[in-house]
Amino acid sequence: MLTLGIETSCDETSVAVVEDGRRILSNVILSQAIHTKFGGVVPEVASREHIKTIVPVFQQAMAEAGITLTDIELVAATMGPGLVGPLLVGLSFAKGFAFTRGVPFVPVNHIEGHLAANILEHPDLDSHHLTLIVSGGHTMLVEVKEFGEYDILGRTRDDAAGEAFDKVAKLLDLGYPGGARLDKLAQNGDPTYHRFPRAVMKEGYQFSYSGLKTAVALYLKRTDPATVESHRADIAASFQEAVVDVLVRKTVLAATERRIRDVTISGGVAANSRLRELMKEKLDRARKRLFYPSTALCTDNAAMIAAAGYYRYQKTGPGEFVLDAVPYLPLE
Ligand code: KG4
Ligand code: ZN
Repeated sequence: MLTLGIETSCDETSVAVVEDGRRILSNVILSQAIHTKFGGVVPEVASREHIKTIVPVFQQAMAEAGITLTDIELVAATMGPGLVGPLLVGLSFAKGFAFTRGVPFVPVNHIEGHLAANILEHPDLDSHHLTLIVSGGHTMLVEVKEFGEYDILGRTRDDAAGEAFDKVAKLLDLGYPGGARLDKLAQNGDPTYHRFPRAVMKEGYQFSYSGLKTAVALYLKRTDPATVESHRADIAASFQEAVVDVLVRKTVLAATERRIRDVTISGGVAANSRLRELMKEKLDRARKRLFYPSTALCTDNAAMIAAAGYYRYQKTGPGEFVLDAVPYLPLE
């Protein structure tokens, strides 16, 4: 079954064609550079960019897949969570396409899309697994009983992990969004240079990142500029270590306590090199298996939406044409 996937929940306009939820024929991702100058995503600007680019991005995805309109059998689009204006652009495009072509339309939860990126890329992954979803908007530890059956073990109480990366990257003058740049800078730094606080809260699998962000801001304020300048990589590495340490500790604990063999990480922060490295090291020791998507499938993309849409369609059938975008759509 050839699925057309559409993702416009934030600042990426993406259209993909995926076969049977497993084989990517095309996955075109256009990141809106315009927000860099504002230091964050401006919702109305994002909506207008999606409106301008959705058709060309769609045409490119069709051309790269080497298919025609009549080949598409299912259309999947993100309905939430995300920014309402951007969501409406993709959703309307998807509904219009499905209606005029007479093919089913299926709405997709963006978070389910992120976790489906691993199912798409790793046929070997057990349908029962533990996933750590870490993106710019979400930090969640979820037991996946099977696709669509979720037990949410914990989430962040304040900032998401990616948000913490972006805020600290800004403090280090790395621009926005700075997660990937901070990762790169930290590769030349000493993670033990300064010990930033770890918010290891007593109650199980909850996360918190606002305290860490404040600790970095205070540290930078009271350290003299010359020292900061000569130790930027060390500070980046020390901050990153504090984030990754807690994510890994709680994930390994959950996999052990719940006796789950396969573990995945997904979302933009799953691209982080230190998170991948430390998670692999600790899970190897606990005799668990780690899976993560290729870098392009960690950050927002339509291939993961097409895959999730395909599995959703198998499970619950098509969606209604009357449904609306839901900015705070929960995973459960
Ligand atoms: O999944 P995503 O594209 O968007 C959301 O659904 O939020 O995630 C984007 C987030 C941003 O905060 C970005 O800075 C972060 O993922 N990110 C990274 C890396 N690559 C992207 N954070 C740390 N290390 C990276 N290599
Ligand atoms: Zn995302």
